[in-house]
Amino acid sequence: MESPNHMVGVFFGLKDEEAFADGMRKSIRQVRNGGIYAGDNIFTFNRNLGFLQNQKLMDAVRKHASTATERAILWRQVVLAWAAQQGMKRDGDFVECACYKGTTARILCEYLDFDKSDKRYYLYDLFEHDESMPHHAMEEHGADLYEKVLNRFKDFSNVTVTRGAVPGVLHDVAPEKIAFLHIDLNSAEAEIGALEILFDRMTPGAILVLDDYGWNFYYQQQRAEDAWFAARGYQVLELPTGQGLLIK
Ligand SMILES: C[S@@+](CC[C@H](N)C(=O)[O-])C[C@H]1O[C@@H](n2cnc3c(N)ncnc32)[C@H](O)[C@@H]1O
Repeated sequence: MESPNHMVGVFFGLKDEEAFADGMRKSIRQVRNGGIYAGDNIFTFNRNLGFLQNQKLMDAVRKHASTATERAILWRQVVLAWAAQQGMKRDGDFVECACYKGTTARILCEYLDFDKSDKRYYLYDLFEHDESMPHHAMEEHGADLYEKVLNRFKDFSNVTVTRGAVPGVLHDVAPEKIAFLHIDLNSAEAEIGALEILFDRMTPGAILVLDDYGWNFYYQQQRAEDAWFAARGYQVLELPTGQGLLIK
């Protein structure tokens, strides 16, 4: 049986994008039976890609993922959807450090009918960027991004969007118990700072997803996190999506 495909040609860290795309096109032409995922530095074939049949999740992604990059990272979104769905069954609230435009959190809210949940979702970001910051700027950082994200979650009275620097801001606003924690700060220092405050608050069975963990551009994060978790008797699973996964 022919499997469905997901191809959005966004790949990172290339020398020659056109030469790479040409090679991909040639490879794809040689695949029997589909099951091709091509994007976000993943190339699979002859896979079931069963998540493409998850209509509710695919509808939420189609509605809220507006850029090619947001569509290319579908498999990361699928991992988050699974993790958050497990989190719905655990004790505690949801946290994302950091949310940027709020895209992945907005998809999860829709997918999980989060407005009907008695949990809260805590989102953090700086929303703006200047050259003194250790992480890189992103296209939509700016003075109006915080308001835009507030507006994006206006229908969810149980989502709290907080502007400020992690980890410091976590001393002012953060839940006591966490069921699902998504960390995506592009900075080893900030991520270890977040773990220092939040990991102990994760309840048994709570899920942690580290977005940058497997990307060699963020190798320092994996080094720092491996050491931090080893000291506590935990090990992170590096996923083919580049994310790290840990179940407490
Ligand atoms: C890759 S983006 C997050 C994307 C988001 N997780 C999503 O799935 O759509 C990384 C974000 O981390 C934020 N950031 C980096 N360091 C931070 C810090 N110390 N405190 C708060 N936000 C920070 C940046 O402003 C940026 O928006």
